[in-house]
Amino acid sequence: MSNFRLTYLKWQRHLVLGDGWRIFVRPIRPDDEFLIRDLLVHVTNEDLRLRFFDSIKEFSHQFIAKLTQLDYARAMAFVAIDEASSEMLGVVWLYSDSIHETGEFAILLRSDLHGRGLGWVLMQLIIEYAKSEGLSRIYGEILQENSVMLKMCRELGFKIKTDVEDGGVCDVTLVLEAG
Ligand SMILES: CC(C)(COP(=O)(O)OP(=O)(O)OC[C@H]1O[C@@H](n2cnc3c(N)ncnc32)[C@H](O)[C@@H]1OP(=O)(O)O)[C@@H](O)C(=O)NCCC(=O)NCCS
Repeated sequence: MSNFRLTYLKWQRHLVLGDGWRIFVRPIRPDDEFLIRDLLVHVTNEDLRLRFFDSIKEFSHQFIAKLTQLDYARAMAFVAIDEASSEMLGVVWLYSDSIHETGEFAILLRSDLHGRGLGWVLMQLIIEYAKSEGLSRIYGEILQENSVMLKMCRELGFKIKTDVEDGGVCDVTLVLEAG
């Protein structure tokens, strides 16, 4: 069995969120383009700005490919799929550095699904993955006004500092113990 196939099977999860919401989480695949396009249709411009720090005018094939076609030796992403509708609900990404010591995460959910615990579950899973990969810390850049994400990071144990070069951005870092 190929390495990716093993990873793919290992990181699948059937989960039930607090309100009985059944979701399936699995590693992203290159053929997720269609599902992620549909997810992006359900994301507000403001949420796109919080994720990409930019206003995105067009979801080109190249833009989508960067999100779905990962070099799994250096990156991972988990997608959450609704068990009932098979729609993609959210994605969390992790990109590690060349020496596989640290990783940068990013997360994006459908805007109509916030506040139901999905972000929390995906963040916990990517932390578990980073630990299992032996990374010593993960970090992210969060806009100052993104109070939901900053609060969640604080509760997950991240240290939060204002970026030295850009006061509008917070650097959040979580030191990991091997899992
Ligand atoms: C930020 C984002 C991922 C949050 O996802 P979410 O599903 O709305 O968040 P959750 O419902 O899991 O968690 C939010 C709340 O629950 C808390 N929470 C959830 N589960 C919890 C648990 N088991 N224990 C403790 N706290 C928990 C969070 O801190 C937060 O508190 P509140 O609801 O009381 O205000 C989502 O809003 C999003 O996609 N935003 C746009 C993109 C973005 O901002 N990305 C971050 C930059 S990369």
